[in-house]
Amino acid sequence: MADIGKVLRDRLAAAFETVTGSTVDPVLRRSRHADFQADGALGRPDARAVAAAVAEAADLGDLCSDVRVAGPGFVNLTLADAALDEWLAAAAADPRLGVSTVEPEVVVVDYSGPNAAKEMHVGHLRSTVIGDAVVRVLEYLGHTVIRQNHLGDWGTNFGMLVEHHVDGATFDLSSFYAAARSKFETDPDFQERSRRRVVRLQAGDPDTIALWHSIIDSSQRYLMSVYDRLGVRLEAADFAGESSYNAALDGVVDDLSALGLLRESDGALCAFPDGSTTPLIVRKRDGGYGYAATDLAALRYRVDELKATRLLYVVGTPQRRHLEMVFAVARAAGWLAPPVRASHIAFGSVLGTDGKMLRSRAGGAIKLTELLDEAVARADDPAIGIGALKYADLSSDRIKDYTFDYDRMLAATGDTAPYLQYAHVRVCSIFRKGDVGGVEGPFAVTHPTEHALAMELLEFPGVVARAGETLEFHRLTAHLHAVAVRFSAFFEQCPVLPAPEPVRASRLALCALTARTLRTGLDLLGIDAPERM
Ligand code: ARG
Repeated sequence: MADIGKVLRDRLAAAFETVTGSTVDPVLRRSRHADFQADGALGRPDARAVAAAVAEAADLGDLCSDVRVAGPGFVNLTLADAALDEWLAAAAADPRLGVSTVEPEVVVVDYSGPNAAKEMHVGHLRSTVIGDAVVRVLEYLGHTVIRQNHLGDWGTNFGMLVEHHVDGATFDLSSFYAAARSKFETDPDFQERSRRRVVRLQAGDPDTIALWHSIIDSSQRYLMSVYDRLGVRLEAADFAGESSYNAALDGVVDDLSALGLLRESDGALCAFPDGSTTPLIVRKRDGGYGYAATDLAALRYRVDELKATRLLYVVGTPQRRHLEMVFAVARAAGWLAPPVRASHIAFGSVLGTDGKMLRSRAGGAIKLTELLDEAVARADDPAIGIGALKYADLSSDRIKDYTFDYDRMLAATGDTAPYLQYAHVRVCSIFRKGDVGGVEGPFAVTHPTEHALAMELLEFPGVVARAGETLEFHRLTAHLHAVAVRFSAFFEQCPVLPAPEPVRASRLALCALTARTLRTGLDLLGIDAPERM
């Protein structure tokens, strides 16, 4: 089933072609004066005449009750209630609410990517929440999604951490890393031992690996507990840490060297992709490998072994340059070539209500678990607290910084998860109160608030399809919010249970479709929709 906007757009495009003899985008959008308006004629000298001819040629009598030219050449379209009834019935009969599946692809989603032995920070929280929505939407649209959690579990720090463990410190998240770091900075003997330990770690010395493993394992247990609380789809099997690429790193350097893509600079082996003057350091002066080499190996693995054709990196904006360089080197090496494409799904920083980077009250880095605890405590319910936090993140324009504000995210009115969850609960309670089960209509829209709600509900398939392309979830949240707002207006003005038949059946069917739309939409965002609150 196509979405109603698409059907209108196609008919109008054909009409524009007939009228003008060329391909014209009808520029169809929702309108304040009607249901839709088409602005495709604007800007032409004969705009009003073209608009009138298009309105005539499009032959929209079966869909619209009113088609009229306005202003400098808009075509305003009002859908006929009878047409809405048919579309609503089709959506209600479809378990997918009218959302079509797409040509499936294997998509790798790199998200969360925290660092072992440390607490997750709010940037990782954003990556986890956004990445999970990416996974859910793409899976819903029919893609094969492979989650990759690029855990920072390798590199020079781990020599220090293992050595600290050898010194008898037991691993914990809050102080282990900091204690090891300060010892490293003040104790030359420890520093030397740590250096030797990295060499043994990278050489695969069994005792060292066992110690390293115990640190990684407890980190993973902590991370899994966070994912569990968040209700995200990341599982233990999705960890593909930096360490897992260790054996492939020599090959990365050999292959890039053979292709003439590396230059020595200050003892390090560097790539200068796309004529860039800043280097991407592939092998360090001391022979060690860093973040870039690992990302190159990971990219190759995702293309060659996982057979992905779409690579998505849900990583904060500060790493834009790094990822661009990695992609550019991979392109130059022929590892990243059409149909495979890679994109950085970037996001801004999390700010406190003071407009500065979010900090704890004591001024230090904020612990993720504290944020979750507080949201849940204030909401007095995990589904609402966690849902509010996720919604606040997903409803802001991803690329921009967003302000972390408990009061705003937990408000029962406004563009918040609790508002949508309450709307869903209200619909569910109608069914409980009326003791009615599956209602299928028939739909018979008449009241303007029914019309407006129907219009919004029918947008859902198009909104989800676009979310799968743009991965801009604030458009999906805005849509769900509009559904909830339209529903309240309808519910205020149109009695449901007391209405006489057949109006009652139609209104119940509208309620049922509203509930399913809210539930499905929230689920795509990873947010629970409880039936009672
Ligand atoms: N561990 C990294 C960090 O904390 C994020 C990893 C992102 N993914 C990647 N393939 N580089 O900054």
